[in-house]
Amino acid sequence: MVTEQEVETIGRTLVDAAQPLPARFRALFTLRNLGGRAAVEWISRAFGDDSALLKHELAFCLGQMQDEAAIPVLIRVLEDTAQEPMVRHEAGEALGAIGNPDVLDVLKHYSQDPVVEVAETCQLAVRRLEWLQNNKEKPGSSPYLSVDPAPPAEETDVAKLREILLDESQELFERYRAMFALRNVGGQAAVLALAEGLRCGSALFRHEIGYVLGQLQDEACVPQLTAALCSRAESPMVRHECAEALGSIARPCCLWALRAFAGDDERVVRESCQVALDMYEYENGTQFQYADGLCKLQASS
Ligand SMILES: [Fe+2]
Ligand SMILES: [Fe+2]
Repeated sequence: MVTEQEVETIGRTLVDAAQPLPARFRALFTLRNLGGRAAVEWISRAFGDDSALLKHELAFCLGQMQDEAAIPVLIRVLEDTAQEPMVRHEAGEALGAIGNPDVLDVLKHYSQDPVVEVAETCQLAVRRLEWLQNNKEKPGSSPYLSVDPAPPAEETDVAKLREILLDESQELFERYRAMFALRNVGGQAAVLALAEGLRCGSALFRHEIGYVLGQLQDEACVPQLTAALCSRAESPMVRHECAEALGSIARPCCLWALRAFAGDDERVVRESCQVALDMYEYENGTQFQYADGLCKLQASS
């Protein structure tokens, strides 16, 4: 049983800007795994931080926790145009992930946002909520235990899914459905089809491909992820996701690019590489779990 005081100590690490970012990330994921009202409150408090990377991850975690108590703070973040697009995007996506249709009007409003990543995210979230309303069954649970922005397509043929994924005339929601179906099918052909998506239109789409390739942890797409991370013409949001994917694939061939861009001019890219190098260490080390805030606490008491 976790005491309130333990949650508080982990929460303090999360909101302490003087702590190294990887430690704050681990604290965040520990709170996400613990769940409960106090965890939601600590996570919500950190939206005043100046790291877009940290803040977007706060929103992501609140969505994954699917706790309705987080709805008001997520709406505030989505509405706040002073927040970075990547943070507002993640707040919109989280509102879709929680699954309560009460937020449909807000999401419809921001489906027209002038920031294209925000608009596209809200369009997807609206489609997800409508899909949930029209389908009595919930989307089959993700083998990766994530709450995804779209349910997987029912199709399982890799060639057909690849075609939908890469067809820019298709609706984004359908392309996302193909993306998650390809992920669930897995295997090298699916990984390579997904990696082709890193050259498609829409930065939002490409960043989601990066995320999914990170979940798959397959070495076959390291060259494509590395190319996207190295491209200064690419959106920082995409480069960020590719860096983190390389961190979770965690093979030696991932290392040089993460080290090379850990000093990138773009803060979000730089910080992503730092967090990715920490994930790399975790994947290759003897640590029992990444979200280790609680273990550390209990070991030191
Ligand atoms: Fe995202
Ligand atoms: Fe991200």
